[in-house]
Amino acid sequence: MKDFLTVASDAARAAGLLLRENIQGKREITYKGDINLVTEMDMRSERVVVEMLLASFPGHGIIAEEETKIQTASGYQWIIDPLDGTTNYAHGYPCFSVSIALEHKGEVIAGVVYDPMRDELFSARKGAGATLNGRAIKVSGTDRLIQSLLATGFPYDRKTSEKNNLDYFHDLLMASQEVRRDGSAALDLCYVASGRFDGFWELKLKPWDVAAGSLIAREAGGMVSDFTGTGFSIHSDELLASNGRIHGALVDILQSVRKRGGSRTP
Ligand code: IPD
Ligand code: CA
Ligand code: CA
Repeated sequence: MKDFLTVASDAARAAGLLLRENIQGKREITYKGDINLVTEMDMRSERVVVEMLLASFPGHGIIAEEETKIQTASGYQWIIDPLDGTTNYAHGYPCFSVSIALEHKGEVIAGVVYDPMRDELFSARKGAGATLNGRAIKVSGTDRLIQSLLATGFPYDRKTSEKNNLDYFHDLLMASQEVRRDGSAALDLCYVASGRFDGFWELKLKPWDVAAGSLIAREAGGMVSDFTGTGFSIHSDELLASNGRIHGALVDILQSVRKRGGSRTP
């Protein structure tokens, strides 16, 4: 059988190349909501990834963001975001990625995230560490929140839901060195893994946004949890990732916001 990570890396590179080649020019955009858009390139990228994975692993299940849902009894399931950062892509803002993870019996065992604009391939195998273009990476050594560069994102339903991250954003912006909103959660997690960001939090992400990136962050020595600092599942509504050293300080602030009823969390 072919190596999972090799096939996933090849698929991410092929889809990423297609995205990069087509970033300029007109494209068809449809809307899933008033600000949640999808381009024809999301679909084309997904088809490339799905075709390449199925060519090597025809018996595996697949769940991909746009249109592919294949269930099998194999115990293996690929989780794919064919274009993470669609809003950026549609505006020609060069920050987006292809994210591919493999789950075995409910546990993520391999993941790749590819940034075609920088030709950066982040990958990890469970228990074997994380790499960027083949070289081992690890999280930053920053241990003070005020010296930390953080990242976050805001859910598409922010105009209609009070659970919208604005209060968390306010308090963490005041407590840290800076907060970025780059627009690709999969890359945000890889940037925590490679020490470029010290921490990242977001609400309402989907399994395809976080499955590969959360494994990569953990395998690089990072911590990934919910906002209480305890459990984490790729199906969870809350994600907090960090270098581990500032995790407690991040949890304290997220919990203090929650206690005063901010960014309404039930
Ligand atoms: C989005 C990106 C963004 C995050 C959104 C996601 P998409 O994914 O990861 O950074 O803030 O919550 O939905 O829609 O571009 O695949
Ligand atoms: Ca996404
Ligand atoms: Ca997407």
